[in-house]
Amino acid sequence: MPLFTRGLAEVGAEVLGVGDQPAGALPEPARRSLSSYLQVRNLWDEEAVAAEVGRWLAGAIPERVECLWEPGVLLAARLRDALGVPGLTRQQAFAFRNKERMKQVLDGAGIRTPRHLAASTVSGCWEAAERLGFPLILKPIAGAGSMDTYRVHDRGELNEALSRLRHVPEVSVEEFVDGEEYTFDAISIGGEPAYHNVAWYRPRPLAARSNEWVSPQVVALRFPDQPELGGGIEMGRAVLKALSFESGFTHMEWYRRADGEVVFGEIGARPPGAHQVDQMNFACDIDVFRGWAEAVSFGRFSEDVRRLYNVANVYKRAHGTGRIRRVVGLERIRRLCGPHLVWDNLLPVGARRRDWRQTLVSDGFLVVRHPDLGATLAMADEIGKALHLYAA
Ligand SMILES: Nc1ncnc2c1ncn2[C@@H]1O[C@H](COP(=O)(O)OP(=O)(O)O)[C@@H](O)[C@H]1O
Ligand SMILES: [Mg+2]
Repeated sequence: MPLFTRGLAEVGAEVLGVGDQPAGALPEPARRSLSSYLQVRNLWDEEAVAAEVGRWLAGAIPERVECLWEPGVLLAARLRDALGVPGLTRQQAFAFRNKERMKQVLDGAGIRTPRHLAASTVSGCWEAAERLGFPLILKPIAGAGSMDTYRVHDRGELNEALSRLRHVPEVSVEEFVDGEEYTFDAISIGGEPAYHNVAWYRPRPLAARSNEWVSPQVVALRFPDQPELGGGIEMGRAVLKALSFESGFTHMEWYRRADGEVVFGEIGARPPGAHQVDQMNFACDIDVFRGWAEAVSFGRFSEDVRRLYNVANVYKRAHGTGRIRRVVGLERIRRLCGPHLVWDNLLPVGARRRDWRQTLVSDGFLVVRHPDLGATLAMADEIGKALHLYAA
């Protein structure tokens, strides 16, 4: 987020910040890029924020209201509605937040979504299971990060999942779609993607979040326009149209089944997390933070997109609990990867472990890139197997 803020200042926008921290606590690149900052009392009291922002602006109307963080997408839309600023309205933004509404709109546009039903009671979930059949996915209607998401194969597993889902008010029950999982990330201008990126999840996010021993990989692909991915990109464009998305960043996930069928996963009106925007920069040696800023400020995208590399982010989870005490295998990985290892962002020895269930970044990551996909994956797999962090 600080880097997007920096991007806005760099392209010459005057940036007014709204947040709930004191100005002094803002990260340096953000603080430096703001011409003014309003600290609100409670960022999640939308009505109060709209009133506070209105008083603060004293009649001035900004040209854009932008929020690149999932929990704030509706708040930003609320501010747009209140101030009469173009961009997603509250109603349009709702379709990006609520997974049932999202799929209803897309079904209406003829887009292939997993068969789905929403349920807010245990009996509603059983009914949905009867109608959809196993295997199924159960997940929060407005979730993120694969939190509280369960794959169930039979009645016993459904029973178990339901007992764990008691704190979730409404769930989306979906047909389980087997296959590979990809992103379609885009910066749009006037309803047309001006830049796009396709990344491949290895393994699928739900598997990565269910098994601590896995070192999840996200791989930005050098040739997103190859035929096998064409169906996903075409679907991405159709989804943006169906949801009336005009300008800004979107992050869509889609599945490709073994028979080639492309199925919609979900979409957010924001960029992906876990340093996947940095990954896009490494793929083309451009500045996507600034490119986004230029797109939303001036309706142009002038970064020179030449796709030079496949880029893999490999996220590591330490063994044990507490503080990182030892890192084993890093020297070997450095020798193996040489100049293809472009970023080492592992937690240093002495740092406290992060909660891998709360953040895909986990205990840090390495980024490798190579013009050849096979070479990229070989390095990424070696980092998964031969690099170990130990905590105690
Ligand atoms: N219908 C489905 N079929 C297969 N896998 C699914 C399905 N829905 C969700 N998943 C798995 O769960 C993960 C999280 O679900 P998703 O809808 O992307 O929610 P989140 O907002 O938590 O990322 C997906 O990345 C995918 O691996
Ligand atoms: Mg997802």
